Amino acid sequence: MRFYIMTLFPDMVMNGLGTSITGRAMEKDLLGVEAVNIRDYAFNKHNSVDDYPYGGGAGMLMQAEPVYQAYNAVKEKVGRSPRVVYLSPQGRTFHQEMAEELAREEELVLLCGHYEGIDERVLEEIVTDYVSIGDYVLTGGELPAMVIVDAVSRLVPGVLHNDVSAEFDSFQDNLLEYPQYSRPEVWHGKQVPPVLLSGHHANVEKWRREQSVIRTARNRPDLLEKADLDETEKELVRK
Ligand code: ADE
Repeated sequence: MRFYIMTLFPDMVMNGLGTSITGRAMEKDLLGVEAVNIRDYAFNKHNSVDDYPYGGGAGMLMQAEPVYQAYNAVKEKVGRSPRVVYLSPQGRTFHQEMAEELAREEELVLLCGHYEGIDERVLEEIVTDYVSIGDYVLTGGELPAMVIVDAVSRLVPGVLHNDVSAEFDSFQDNLLEYPQYSRPEVWHGKQVPPVLLSGHHANVEKWRREQSVIRTARNRPDLLEKADLDETEKELVRK
């Protein structure tokens, strides 16, 4: 899968995504991440890409033309009209199912706004999806773009070491993940739950599922409505 991140701050996204799991996937060519510097498409001699908003108001707006030219360069490279996600607090709130849906694309363009945003006319022409990462306002779309690349990449086969680990994660079945423990068996006087040391696989699975249900009921009761619980589990939640 290839991501093209249209941004005024290419170092920010490349430094972040070039690290750890996404960085390794890029080295192995399971993942392509390319920052497209919108400033390279400035059309005036001052290299500026922003201007005052018509009608007045605070701050500056990113102008339509550099964004459009940067998009055209990507479109030419991929040889078709790619899906373009504009990161904005006005978009649909990102969630795991959206990550799964985006992971089916061959390539994805992520458009990062800055300052007070981008001239509406170019958004109308090129954007296919408006996505927010939550109800708060950030200074730009770079962190949200990195969030999306991270969440989508880990669903691409081979990116995680262990292919089953994405399958059993929090949210995959609308339940949060169960607690996990590693050595030593006792730490600060706290014991690892004995069932995990029993070697009894079926009991371990049963305990983990229960823990997931209990955690979800306690921390994210809103998710439980969508979870597929059996009668015993429903009883557990009612307690
Ligand atoms: N840009 C600024 N804030 C944002 C948010 N919450 N989600 C996506 N893009 C943003």
